[in-house]
Amino acid sequence: MSNIVEIENLIFEYAANEEEHQELKKAIDNVSFAIEKGTFTAIIGKNGSGKSTLAKNLNGLLIPSSGRILIAGLDTRDDELVWQIRQTAGMVFQNPDNQLVSSIVEDDIAFGPENLGIAPHEIRERVDDSIAAVGMSKFLHDAPHHLSGGQKQRIAIAGVLAMKPDCIIFDEPTAMLDPQGRNDVMKIIKELSKEGITIILITHFMEEAAEADRVIIMNEGKILLDGRPSVVFKQEETLKNANMELPMAVDMAKRLRRRGIEVPDFVTTEEELVDFICQYR
Ligand SMILES: Nc1ncnc2c1ncn2[C@@H]1O[C@H](COP(=O)(O)OP(=O)(O)O)[C@@H](O)[C@H]1O
Ligand SMILES: [Mg+2]
Repeated sequence: MSNIVEIENLIFEYAANEEEHQELKKAIDNVSFAIEKGTFTAIIGKNGSGKSTLAKNLNGLLIPSSGRILIAGLDTRDDELVWQIRQTAGMVFQNPDNQLVSSIVEDDIAFGPENLGIAPHEIRERVDDSIAAVGMSKFLHDAPHHLSGGQKQRIAIAGVLAMKPDCIIFDEPTAMLDPQGRNDVMKIIKELSKEGITIILITHFMEEAAEADRVIIMNEGKILLDGRPSVVFKQEETLKNANMELPMAVDMAKRLRRRGIEVPDFVTTEEELVDFICQYR
């Protein structure tokens, strides 16, 4: 297996505000890890723990203060590689309104490939495929501002898909959405993962993190825990100290075990818990 992301001793400091004589503060404090191609990783952590700073470092929006990041082997510190890096690792942000640039949905999705200089017939194909992948084909000629938050976010995802990225970084993509929008976006993320796109999902919803192959918990610019959801969510004391709750299904499984029902360890999602309960005799 090959690593699509390699982070080596990453330190990131925002420039100090000279007037206030603030000290440099490390938003990311010596973090190293790698992500295997095709995997689904969730990154969680309190506000200010460094998640967005990490995400922006991953696609070259920010450059490491020290250490380095390789995306598909490409060093983000090299200016000349920045477009190749952003094409390989696409990014979806929290607020869909900040990501939509055109007044017609199809133009919006075509924007990325047009900037890559892709031939018009191929752009057409990419736009049609991408909008179908997010289930929004019938809105192709609509104005984005007429859509709901969840629908806008799906268009933003289609715009990233049209660049044919190997990896997509989602920075709290459901935080501003209603429950329906959240479900729709999560369903798409899981489908993209199944199709082999590497997913990095930053979220503050534990239930969403439980869907991943791997969960990384950040705290004060450092990695607190890293592993399979079933293993990470077992570290109750560490989670509690970091002010984090257990996903609903993990908490329920724990309470069922207390009553003598042997729920298997791998159960971290509601779906897995329901499957277990339906088979329980
Ligand atoms: N543009 C900025 N300038 C200065 N400090 C910043 C900036 N953006 C974030 N920070 C600081 O960096 C730290 C990490 O922030 P961030 O990466 O946004 O965390 P998260 O996404 O986990 O909430 C916080 O202490 C935050 O105040
Ligand atoms: Mg953030």
